Amino acid sequence: MSAEPGCRPVLQARLLFLPPTGAPFESSTDHTDDHTTGERTCQEYDVFGTTPVDPQPLFWYRWIAGHQISFMLWRAMHDVVWHHPDDVPSERELDMLAACVDSYSAMLLYSSTVPRDHYHTNIRVLMALQHPSFSGAWAPDYRPIRRLFRGKVPWLDAPACRALGEAVARNGTTHSHIADHLVPDGRSLLQQSAGAPGVSVSREKEDLYDNFFLTVRRPVSQAELVAQLDSRIVELAADLRHNGLYPEVDGHHHPVVTAWSGTPMRPLVDGVVRTLSRATRLVSEMRLEEARS
Ligand code: HEM
Repeated sequence: MSAEPGCRPVLQARLLFLPPTGAPFESSTDHTDDHTTGERTCQEYDVFGTTPVDPQPLFWYRWIAGHQISFMLWRAMHDVVWHHPDDVPSERELDMLAACVDSYSAMLLYSSTVPRDHYHTNIRVLMALQHPSFSGAWAPDYRPIRRLFRGKVPWLDAPACRALGEAVARNGTTHSHIADHLVPDGRSLLQQSAGAPGVSVSREKEDLYDNFFLTVRRPVSQAELVAQLDSRIVELAADLRHNGLYPEVDGHHHPVVTAWSGTPMRPLVDGVVRTLSRATRLVSEMRLEEARS
Protein backbone atom coordinates (compact mmCIF):
# COMPACT_ATOMS: atom_id res chain seq x y z
CA MET A 1 0.00 0.00 0.00
CA SER A 2 1.29 3.48 -0.82
CA ALA A 3 1.07 6.05 1.98
CA GLU A 4 -0.22 9.55 1.25
CA PRO A 5 2.99 11.65 1.29
CA GLY A 6 1.34 14.83 2.70
CA CYS A 7 3.07 18.23 2.62
CA ARG A 8 6.80 18.60 3.25
CA PRO A 9 7.33 18.47 7.03
CA VAL A 10 9.56 21.05 8.73
CA LEU A 11 12.25 18.91 10.34
CA GLN A 12 14.25 20.93 12.82
CA ALA A 13 16.41 19.22 15.46
CA ARG A 14 15.35 20.38 18.93
CA LEU A 15 16.80 20.39 22.41
CA LEU A 16 16.07 17.29 24.47
CA PHE A 17 15.66 17.64 28.24
CA LEU A 18 16.60 14.68 30.43
CA PRO A 19 17.28 14.28 34.17
CA PRO A 20 20.94 14.01 35.16
CA THR A 21 22.08 10.37 34.88
CA GLY A 22 20.99 8.41 37.94
CA ALA A 23 18.65 11.18 39.17
CA PRO A 24 15.00 10.21 39.65
CA PHE A 25 12.22 11.84 37.67
CA GLU A 26 10.73 14.96 39.16
CA SER A 27 7.29 14.38 40.64
CA SER A 28 4.50 15.76 38.55
CA THR A 29 0.83 16.47 38.98
CA ASP A 30 0.31 16.30 35.24
CA HIS A 31 -2.21 13.50 34.53
CA THR A 32 -2.51 13.76 30.78
CA ASP A 33 -4.73 11.22 29.05
CA ASP A 34 -3.22 7.78 28.55
CA HIS A 35 -3.49 7.75 24.74
CA THR A 36 -0.24 8.98 23.29
CA THR A 37 -0.71 10.98 20.09
CA GLY A 38 1.90 8.73 18.40
CA GLU A 39 -0.68 5.93 18.29
CA ARG A 40 -3.25 8.19 16.67
CA THR A 41 -0.88 9.38 13.95
CA CYS A 42 -0.70 7.51 10.61
CA GLN A 43 1.79 4.66 10.97
CA GLU A 44 2.04 3.78 7.26
CA TYR A 45 4.82 4.91 4.94
CA ASP A 46 6.57 3.79 1.79
CA VAL A 47 9.89 2.05 2.33
CA PHE A 48 11.34 3.65 -0.83
CA GLY A 49 10.56 7.37 -1.05
CA THR A 50 9.61 8.94 -4.36
CA THR A 51 10.08 12.63 -3.47
CA PRO A 52 13.66 13.88 -4.08
CA VAL A 53 15.16 15.18 -0.81
CA ASP A 54 17.77 17.72 0.26
CA PRO A 55 20.15 15.36 2.13
CA GLN A 56 21.86 17.87 4.45
CA PRO A 57 18.93 18.91 6.66
CA LEU A 58 17.08 15.59 6.41
CA PHE A 59 19.89 13.30 7.50
CA TRP A 60 21.12 15.69 10.18
CA TYR A 61 17.59 15.70 11.58
CA ARG A 62 17.40 11.88 11.47
CA TRP A 63 20.80 11.46 13.14
CA ILE A 64 19.89 13.78 16.02
CA ALA A 65 16.25 12.71 16.48
CA GLY A 66 17.08 8.98 16.17
CA HIS A 67 19.67 9.33 18.93
CA GLN A 68 17.47 11.50 21.16
CA ILE A 69 14.61 9.00 20.93
CA SER A 70 17.05 6.21 21.84
CA PHE A 71 18.16 8.18 24.93
CA MET A 72 14.55 8.52 26.10
CA LEU A 73 13.89 4.80 25.59
CA TRP A 74 17.06 3.93 27.52
CA ARG A 75 16.00 6.26 30.36
CA ALA A 76 12.55 4.65 30.55
CA MET A 77 14.14 1.18 30.62
CA HIS A 78 16.55 2.23 33.36
CA ASP A 79 13.75 2.58 35.93
CA VAL A 80 12.53 -1.00 35.44
CA VAL A 81 16.04 -2.50 35.40
CA TRP A 82 16.93 -0.50 38.53
CA HIS A 83 13.88 -1.79 40.41
CA HIS A 84 14.74 -5.40 39.55
CA PRO A 85 18.40 -6.06 40.32
CA ASP A 86 17.75 -9.79 41.00
CA ASP A 87 14.06 -10.63 40.52
CA VAL A 88 12.21 -11.03 37.23
CA PRO A 89 10.16 -7.91 36.27
CA SER A 90 6.39 -8.25 35.87
CA GLU A 91 4.84 -9.31 32.55
CA ARG A 92 3.90 -5.70 31.74
CA GLU A 93 7.38 -4.44 32.58
CA LEU A 94 8.96 -7.14 30.41
CA ASP A 95 6.61 -6.22 27.59
CA MET A 96 7.61 -2.57 27.94
CA LEU A 97 11.34 -3.43 28.03
CA ALA A 98 11.08 -5.60 24.88
CA ALA A 99 9.12 -2.85 23.07
CA CYS A 100 11.77 -0.26 24.05
CA VAL A 101 14.63 -2.50 22.89
CA ASP A 102 12.92 -3.08 19.52
CA SER A 103 12.24 0.66 19.24
CA TYR A 104 15.91 1.40 19.90
CA SER A 105 16.73 -1.06 17.07
CA ALA A 106 14.26 0.82 14.85
CA MET A 107 16.10 4.06 15.75
CA LEU A 108 19.45 2.51 14.77
CA LEU A 109 17.88 1.73 11.41
CA TYR A 110 16.24 5.18 11.03
CA SER A 111 19.46 7.08 11.94
CA SER A 112 21.57 5.02 9.56
CA THR A 113 19.40 5.61 6.48
CA VAL A 114 21.91 8.37 5.65
CA PRO A 115 23.81 7.51 2.43
CA ARG A 116 27.29 6.22 3.31
CA ASP A 117 29.16 9.02 1.45
CA HIS A 118 27.08 11.67 3.16
CA TYR A 119 27.71 10.05 6.55
CA HIS A 120 31.48 10.15 6.02
CA THR A 121 31.71 13.66 4.59
CA ASN A 122 29.23 15.29 6.96
CA ILE A 123 28.06 13.53 10.10
CA ARG A 124 31.17 11.55 10.96
CA VAL A 125 33.37 14.61 10.33
CA LEU A 126 31.30 16.65 12.79
CA MET A 127 31.44 13.91 15.44
CA ALA A 128 35.24 13.65 15.02
CA LEU A 129 35.52 17.44 15.40
CA GLN A 130 33.51 17.26 18.62
CA HIS A 131 36.13 14.74 19.82
CA PRO A 132 38.52 12.52 17.81
CA SER A 133 37.41 9.40 19.77
CA PHE A 134 33.69 10.27 19.85
CA SER A 135 31.78 7.07 20.69
CA GLY A 136 28.37 5.63 21.52
CA ALA A 137 30.12 4.15 24.55
CA TRP A 138 30.00 7.68 26.04
CA ALA A 139 26.19 7.86 26.05
CA PRO A 140 25.25 8.66 29.69
CA ASP A 141 21.82 6.99 29.60
CA TYR A 142 23.15 3.76 28.12
CA ARG A 143 25.58 3.02 30.96
CA PRO A 144 22.93 2.01 33.58
CA ILE A 145 21.27 -0.49 31.19
CA ARG A 146 24.40 -1.73 29.42
CA ARG A 147 24.34 -4.97 31.42
CA LEU A 148 20.90 -5.80 29.99
CA PHE A 149 22.25 -5.42 26.42
CA ARG A 150 25.28 -7.49 27.41
CA GLY A 151 23.02 -10.29 28.77
CA LYS A 152 24.37 -9.69 32.27
CA VAL A 153 21.11 -9.24 34.21
CA PRO A 154 20.61 -12.43 36.26
CA TRP A 155 16.99 -12.99 35.19
CA LEU A 156 17.32 -12.73 31.40
CA ASP A 157 17.39 -16.54 31.00
CA ALA A 158 14.02 -16.99 32.78
CA PRO A 159 11.30 -18.42 30.47
CA ALA A 160 9.20 -15.26 30.94
CA CYS A 161 12.04 -13.19 29.44
CA ARG A 162 12.17 -15.02 26.10
CA ALA A 163 10.72 -12.18 24.02
CA LEU A 164 13.01 -9.66 25.72
CA GLY A 165 16.04 -11.90 25.11
CA GLU A 166 15.10 -12.15 21.43
CA ALA A 167 14.73 -8.35 21.21
CA VAL A 168 18.18 -7.88 22.80
CA ALA A 169 19.69 -10.32 20.27
CA ARG A 170 17.93 -8.48 17.42
CA ASN A 171 19.39 -5.24 18.72
CA GLY A 172 22.94 -6.65 18.66
CA THR A 173 22.40 -7.84 15.07
CA THR A 174 21.02 -4.42 14.07
CA HIS A 175 23.92 -2.46 15.62
CA SER A 176 26.51 -4.70 13.91
CA HIS A 177 24.60 -4.48 10.64
CA ILE A 178 24.33 -0.69 10.55
CA ALA A 179 27.96 -0.31 11.69
CA ASP A 180 29.12 -2.58 8.81
CA HIS A 181 26.80 -0.77 6.42
CA LEU A 182 28.04 2.76 7.22
CA VAL A 183 31.66 1.93 8.08
CA PRO A 184 32.57 -1.18 6.07
CA ASP A 185 36.15 -1.18 7.42
CA GLY A 186 34.49 -1.75 10.78
CA ARG A 187 36.53 0.74 12.81
CA SER A 188 34.72 3.23 15.03
CA LEU A 189 36.16 6.70 15.69
CA LEU A 190 37.17 5.45 19.13
CA GLN A 191 39.08 2.52 17.63
CA GLN A 192 40.61 4.68 14.89
CA SER A 193 41.88 7.35 17.25
CA ALA A 194 44.84 6.93 19.58
CA GLY A 195 42.48 6.48 22.56
CA ALA A 196 41.76 2.89 23.52
CA PRO A 197 38.27 2.17 24.92
CA GLY A 198 38.48 3.22 28.57
CA VAL A 199 36.88 1.25 31.39
CA SER A 200 35.20 4.39 32.70
CA VAL A 201 33.98 7.43 30.80
CA SER A 202 34.85 10.88 32.11
CA ARG A 203 32.15 13.41 32.90
CA GLU A 204 33.65 15.66 30.23
CA LYS A 205 33.16 13.00 27.54
CA GLU A 206 29.57 12.45 28.63
CA ASP A 207 28.98 16.21 28.41
CA LEU A 208 30.57 16.35 24.94
CA TYR A 209 28.28 13.52 23.86
CA ASP A 210 25.15 15.15 25.32
CA ASN A 211 26.14 18.47 23.80
CA PHE A 212 26.51 16.99 20.29
CA PHE A 213 23.04 15.49 20.49
CA LEU A 214 21.49 18.74 21.85
CA THR A 215 20.70 17.13 25.20
CA VAL A 216 20.35 19.31 28.29
CA ARG A 217 20.32 17.84 31.81
CA ARG A 218 17.80 19.31 34.24
CA PRO A 219 14.95 18.02 36.42
CA VAL A 220 12.35 16.36 34.16
CA SER A 221 9.13 14.57 35.10
CA GLN A 222 8.08 11.28 33.51
CA ALA A 223 5.14 13.11 31.93
CA GLU A 224 7.57 15.48 30.24
CA LEU A 225 9.69 12.57 29.00
CA VAL A 226 6.60 10.92 27.47
CA ALA A 227 5.53 14.24 25.91
CA GLN A 228 8.96 14.71 24.29
CA LEU A 229 8.92 11.11 23.01
CA ASP A 230 5.43 11.51 21.69
CA SER A 231 6.06 14.78 19.83
CA ARG A 232 9.15 13.33 18.16
CA ILE A 233 7.16 10.31 16.95
CA VAL A 234 4.66 12.63 15.30
CA GLU A 235 7.54 14.41 13.48
CA LEU A 236 9.26 11.16 12.56
CA ALA A 237 5.99 9.74 11.19
CA ALA A 238 5.56 12.88 9.04
CA ASP A 239 9.15 12.52 7.80
CA LEU A 240 8.66 8.85 6.84
CA ARG A 241 5.29 9.54 5.21
CA HIS A 242 6.79 12.26 3.04
CA ASN A 243 10.30 10.92 2.37
CA GLY A 244 9.99 7.14 2.84
CA LEU A 245 12.35 5.16 5.07
CA TYR A 246 14.92 5.16 2.26
CA PRO A 247 14.63 8.59 0.63
CA GLU A 248 15.43 9.32 -2.98
CA VAL A 249 18.77 11.17 -3.03
CA ASP A 250 19.97 12.38 -6.45
CA GLY A 251 17.89 9.70 -8.15
CA HIS A 252 19.13 6.85 -5.93
CA HIS A 253 17.99 4.96 -2.85
CA HIS A 254 20.34 3.75 -0.13
CA PRO A 255 18.63 0.81 1.59
CA VAL A 256 20.10 -0.43 4.86
CA VAL A 257 17.90 -3.53 5.31
CA THR A 258 15.41 -4.55 2.64
CA ALA A 259 11.90 -5.76 3.41
CA TRP A 260 12.51 -8.99 1.51
CA SER A 261 15.71 -9.91 3.31
CA GLY A 262 15.45 -12.84 5.71
CA THR A 263 17.13 -11.17 8.70
CA PRO A 264 15.48 -10.76 12.11
CA MET A 265 15.56 -6.98 11.46
CA ARG A 266 13.06 -7.30 8.60
CA PRO A 267 9.89 -6.45 10.65
CA LEU A 268 11.49 -3.12 11.59
CA VAL A 269 11.65 -1.96 7.97
CA ASP A 270 7.98 -1.09 7.60
CA GLY A 271 7.22 -1.02 11.32
CA VAL A 272 9.27 1.92 12.63
CA VAL A 273 6.32 4.11 13.67
CA ARG A 274 4.19 1.19 14.90
CA THR A 275 7.02 -0.18 17.06
CA LEU A 276 7.86 3.21 18.53
CA SER A 277 4.24 4.20 19.19
CA ARG A 278 3.58 0.97 21.05
CA ALA A 279 6.67 1.42 23.24
CA THR A 280 5.63 4.99 24.04
CA ARG A 281 2.15 3.84 25.05
CA LEU A 282 3.59 1.16 27.34
CA VAL A 283 6.00 3.68 28.93
CA SER A 284 3.14 6.13 29.36
CA GLU A 285 0.84 3.51 30.95
CA MET A 286 3.57 2.51 33.38
CA ARG A 287 3.84 6.14 34.43
CA LEU A 288 0.09 6.38 34.99
CA GLU A 289 0.17 3.11 36.88
CA GLU A 290 2.83 4.52 39.20
CA ALA A 291 0.93 7.78 39.59
CA ARG A 292 -2.19 5.85 40.73
CA SER A 293 -0.37 3.55 43.17
C1 HEM B 1 23.19 4.85 14.47
C2 HEM B 1 23.51 5.23 15.63
C3 HEM B 1 24.37 4.49 16.64
C4 HEM B 1 24.07 4.36 17.96
C5 HEM B 1 22.82 4.88 18.68
C6 HEM B 1 25.15 3.61 18.56
C7 HEM B 1 25.22 3.30 19.90
C8 HEM B 1 26.29 2.70 20.51
C9 HEM B 1 26.40 2.45 21.93
C10 HEM B 1 25.35 2.78 22.98
C11 HEM B 1 27.60 1.85 22.14
C12 HEM B 1 28.15 1.38 23.50
C13 HEM B 1 28.04 -0.13 23.56
C14 HEM B 1 28.61 -0.71 24.83
O1 HEM B 1 29.33 -0.03 25.55
O2 HEM B 1 28.29 -1.89 25.13
C15 HEM B 1 28.25 1.73 20.87
C16 HEM B 1 29.50 1.19 20.68
C17 HEM B 1 30.08 0.99 19.48
N1 HEM B 1 29.58 1.35 18.25
FE1 HEM B 1 27.79 2.24 17.91
N2 HEM B 1 26.06 3.28 17.60
C18 HEM B 1 25.64 3.81 16.43
C19 HEM B 1 26.30 3.73 15.21
C20 HEM B 1 27.51 3.12 15.02
C21 HEM B 1 28.23 3.11 13.77
C22 HEM B 1 27.78 3.78 12.47
C23 HEM B 1 29.37 2.40 13.98
C24 HEM B 1 30.41 2.15 12.92
C25 HEM B 1 31.66 1.92 13.14
C26 HEM B 1 29.37 1.96 15.35
C27 HEM B 1 30.34 1.17 15.95
C28 HEM B 1 30.47 0.96 17.29
C29 HEM B 1 31.60 0.26 17.93
C30 HEM B 1 32.79 -0.37 17.21
C31 HEM B 1 31.36 0.30 19.30
C32 HEM B 1 32.28 -0.25 20.41
C33 HEM B 1 32.98 0.92 21.13
C34 HEM B 1 33.71 1.83 20.19
O3 HEM B 1 34.68 1.39 19.57
O4 HEM B 1 33.28 3.00 20.04
N3 HEM B 1 28.23 2.40 15.94
N4 HEM B 1 27.44 2.26 19.90
